[in-house]
Amino acid sequence: MKKSKKLVVGNWKMNPQSLDEAKKLAQAVKRATRGLKKTDVVVCPPFVFLSPLTSLSDSPFFLGAQNANYEAQGPFTGEVSYTELSDFKVDYVIVGHSERRKMGESDDLINKKVRAVVGGGMIAILCVGEEARDSNGDFYNFIKHQITSGLKDVSKKMLDRVVVAYEPLWAIGARESMSPRDLLETSIFIKKVLKDLCGTFSDSMKILYGGDVDRVNADSLVRDGNVSGLLVGRESLRSKDFIEIIKLVDSI
Ligand code: 13P
Repeated sequence: MKKSKKLVVGNWKMNPQSLDEAKKLAQAVKRATRGLKKTDVVVCPPFVFLSPLTSLSDSPFFLGAQNANYEAQGPFTGEVSYTELSDFKVDYVIVGHSERRKMGESDDLINKKVRAVVGGGMIAILCVGEEARDSNGDFYNFIKHQITSGLKDVSKKMLDRVVVAYEPLWAIGARESMSPRDLLETSIFIKKVLKDLCGTFSDSMKILYGGDVDRVNADSLVRDGNVSGLLVGRESLRSKDFIEIIKLVDSI
């Protein structure tokens, strides 16, 4: 069976401050992706920078959005719909990032977004992760609940358009990533949850890790944590570091 490609995603969040910087960063990353054989790379800029960057999108370099409205159109001031995104070469959408869940996004809303994004022909990066780890392992139920509700009523045939990004909240924006050993346990757990839920369709689903990823821990997180790739925040804004992470992942 052909080994599926790794995936490295850069979530720029509300950065950078100008279109000029956004272009420079995206162009540098794109240049570095030439010749990659085993890895796809996605950058997710703020909405305003997506349109001027679409001309760069060409495999293995893709564009992603950080959010999408599940309605195709209508009176939703300030929102951007999944149809508007898919119309201009956006291939991935981050859904249910913890920073958006904190702003009030419910499991139900996140599920609607997942269904809209995959139905619109794009790939949904469904973010899940616990706030804290307790010693009795309750956080596993929490992760399971987020995955189950996020994938509710998603047709099995569409599951190859869903990527699960595991991002423990305590590691996001921190100087404390998860240990590869703990990540391995969690990735095994997530694979089991997906298998129970989706049967063999889960075989095509990728699991990413996010939370304080840098060029020092990237290799071990992917290799020893046994995940398909990474969702990178801060380090995706520094082209040199992000490119190093991409190359490390591609060499695994
Ligand atoms: P950091 O890599 O800055 O910890 O952010 C992770 C993240 O939230 C990616 O979506």
